[in-house]
Amino acid sequence: MSAFSEPVPLEGERVVLRPLTADDTAAPAEGHLPQRDGTGAHFAVTDRDSGTPAGTIDLSRVDASRQTCEVGFAIRPSWRGRGFATEALTLVSQWALRACGLHRVELRAPGTDHACQRVAEKAGFRREGVARGAGRGPDGRPHDQVVFGLLRTDLDDTPRADPPRLVGLGVGPGDPELVTAKAVRILGEADVVLVPVMALDEEGRAESVVRTYTGKAERVVFALNDRGGVTGRRAAAWDGAADRVLRAFADGARTVAFATIGDPNVYSTFTYLAQTVRERRPDTVVETVPGITAMQDLAARSGTVLAEGAESVGLVPLTGGVAAFRDALDACDTVVAYKFGSVADEVIGTLKDAGRLDDAVYGARLGLPGEDVRPARDIGGPVPYLSTLIVPGRRTTRGGKIV
Ligand SMILES: C[S@@+](CC[C@H](N)C(=O)[O-])C[C@H]1O[C@@H](n2cnc3c(N)ncnc32)[C@H](O)[C@@H]1O
Repeated sequence: MSAFSEPVPLEGERVVLRPLTADDTAAPAEGHLPQRDGTGAHFAVTDRDSGTPAGTIDLSRVDASRQTCEVGFAIRPSWRGRGFATEALTLVSQWALRACGLHRVELRAPGTDHACQRVAEKAGFRREGVARGAGRGPDGRPHDQVVFGLLRTDLDDTPRADPPRLVGLGVGPGDPELVTAKAVRILGEADVVLVPVMALDEEGRAESVVRTYTGKAERVVFALNDRGGVTGRRAAAWDGAADRVLRAFADGARTVAFATIGDPNVYSTFTYLAQTVRERRPDTVVETVPGITAMQDLAARSGTVLAEGAESVGLVPLTGGVAAFRDALDACDTVVAYKFGSVADEVIGTLKDAGRLDDAVYGARLGLPGEDVRPARDIGGPVPYLSTLIVPGRRTTRGGKIV
């Protein structure tokens, strides 16, 4: 019986290891015939971007009582020099030791194959000695093998080469089709995916998008509906979410993704989470993946041009009242309002006074059930928190704003 759990795709930055197919074995990479002895795990090493097979790697000669196995690999000549072998060897041996319960992975490199020996060392294997005459060369004559070993305990001793990574993923306003290919890739490769929710028993807005692509979304509570500055609840929620991220890193996670609606650099809770994590774990690499913002989505759904020629665009959150909105109508050509649910009537009054009501468009729950897009003059009564307003610049002639 195989010592390995069902081989799963193993994903790295440059390669993906997937189970071998008949096509892969029909054209094996030079110098390496995957062993089919029923006790191993056999993978095609594929280029992450194109999916093209670049070689093979397999774990074989499993000794269940000693919890050991051997590893062998080959990368096709045209794919060499890109670090594929090192990454594939690291992925597969760490999988064997961490996920499959083995204690030792052994690699035997021909004494003359210095490239293979370098790959072993770069993947963290230790050189243990030379087995004289243990191999047989292509000429049929015995040759020496350099024996390398990697133990489960070596992994614990080895300081992590890569710093932990926290990625703020913009997943757009609500329509799962408005998620970038990069965000989808990172959702797949992240060890942990966190989604902000108001309560643990309620699905979050980012979560409903993320669930289209992965089942691994885990809820963290944020005081998303609090008003009035840095409330105690807000600060406690940032700390709690940071605790969860740091615990994931301590448990071995390399990438934690935090999904946020729209763009992570536009009025997002991610900003505060990232700041807290950075303070408490300064070696964390923080990255963001841009997302489509609510204003872009409303522009598209309502057929409104956000800016042309030399026009300026002002984006104003109205949690502090309409004064900033009034100023923006004077200062900018196009004005976008966010977070104006509590002052919608005043916003409409301001637009009327400024003679700008007729061109303005309103959109609520964009991309979500109950989406509502209409001219702003048709708004009556209170509007939901997820509402966006665009007041386009005044345009009279084609190209009139080009200078
Ligand atoms: C905390 S901000 C988040 C902004 C978001 N990060 C972005 O890039 O668009 C929340 C505000 O964004 C706007 N918003 C976000 N998602 C929306 C949606 N699906 N429909 C309408 N407005 C939305 C609303 O104005 C809401 O009050």
